[in-house]
Amino acid sequence: MPSPILVTGGTGTLGRLVVPRLRDAGCDVRVLSRRSREGGEGIEFVAGDLATGEGIEAAVAGTEIIVHCAGTAKGDEDKTRNLVRAASRAGARHLVYISVVGADRIPVVSGIDRAMFGYFGSKRAAEELIADSGLPWTTLRATQFHDAILLTVRQLARLPVLPVPAGFRFQPVDPGEVAARLVELALGTPAGLVPDLGGPRVYEMAALVRGYLRARGTYRPIVPVWVPGRAARALRAGANLAPDRAVGRRTWEDFLAARVSSPSHSSSGPR
Ligand SMILES: NC(=O)c1ccc[n+]([C@@H]2O[C@H](COP(=O)([O-])OP(=O)(O)OC[C@H]3O[C@@H](n4cnc5c(N)ncnc54)[C@H](OP(=O)(O)O)[C@@H]3O)[C@@H](O)[C@H]2O)c1
Repeated sequence: MPSPILVTGGTGTLGRLVVPRLRDAGCDVRVLSRRSREGGEGIEFVAGDLATGEGIEAAVAGTEIIVHCAGTAKGDEDKTRNLVRAASRAGARHLVYISVVGADRIPVVSGIDRAMFGYFGSKRAAEELIADSGLPWTTLRATQFHDAILLTVRQLARLPVLPVPAGFRFQPVDPGEVAARLVELALGTPAGLVPDLGGPRVYEMAALVRGYLRARGTYRPIVPVWVPGRAARALRAGANLAPDRAVGRRTWEDFLAARVSSPSHSSSGPR
C-alpha cells in the first residue's frame, strides 16, 4: 500500500485546500493537528503539536512525502526544527515547505522589526533549517493569501478611523491556487527553492481597504501611518512583492465579490 502523504497544518486555510487536491490525485493523506478529529475516506488525523514535539513521531511514521503547511505568526522555526528532526529519523524522502515572499529580503533586526515583522524572520529561519536538513526538499514562497488580507482589513474596519501603513503594498493570492501548486510540487521530485507564486495584481494597502469597505457598502476615513524600522522600509520598497511572478489568476475583487456582501444585500450572509 502506498504511504500516506503527511500534511501539517491540514486544518488551516491553505492546508485544508491541499488535502482534497491530494485526494483527487489519488493519494492517501494524514493530517497533523493539535486536536484529534474524525478522519474520512483516505484521510487520517493524527494529534500532535509541532511546538512541543508531542505526537510528531507517530505523525511522520511511514510517510515519505511531507507537505509542511502548519504555521503561526511566531515561532515557525521551532515547529519546523521539531518536524525536520522527526522526518530525518523517519527517513522521509521529500519535505515540501510553504514560505512567504520577502522572507529573504525583509530584515528583522530591531525591536520594532521583531514586534511587527518577526514572522518574516521566522519563515527565513525555517527555510534555512529545511535547506540544511539533509532531507530532499522543495520550498515555495507565496504572497499574502486573500483570507489573511481580509482578516486584517476586517479588524481595521472596526475602527472609526482606519490607520493604514503608508506605502505598504500587497499582492494577494488565492490559497486554492497555492494549494494546487504545492500538490504539484509534492508529487514531483524535490526541487529546492522554486519560483515564487504571487497574486495577479499589486495594490496599495489603502486600496485593499477601500475595496473591502466598498464591498461592505460602507465608508470610513483612512489615515496613513508611518511605520518605523528597517523591515517596514523594505516593505515600502516592495520586498514582499513578486511582480515578475504575478501568476495567480483570482483577483482581490473576485474574492471580495464571493466572500463579502453589503448589509443592504444580505442580513445573514458572509462578511
Ligand atoms: N496567510 C498568508 O497570507 C500566507 C502567505 C504565505 C505563506 N503562508 C504560510 O502558509 C502556511 C499556512 O498558512 P495559513 O494561512 O493556512 O495558516 P492558518 O489558517 O492559520 O492555519 C495554521 C495551521 O497550522 C497548524 N498549527 C499551528 N500551530 C501548530 C502546532 N504547534 N502544531 C501543529 N500544527 C499547528 C494549525 O492546525 P491546528 O490548529 O489544527 O492544530 C492550522 O492547521 C503558513 O506556514 C504560513 O506562514 C501564509
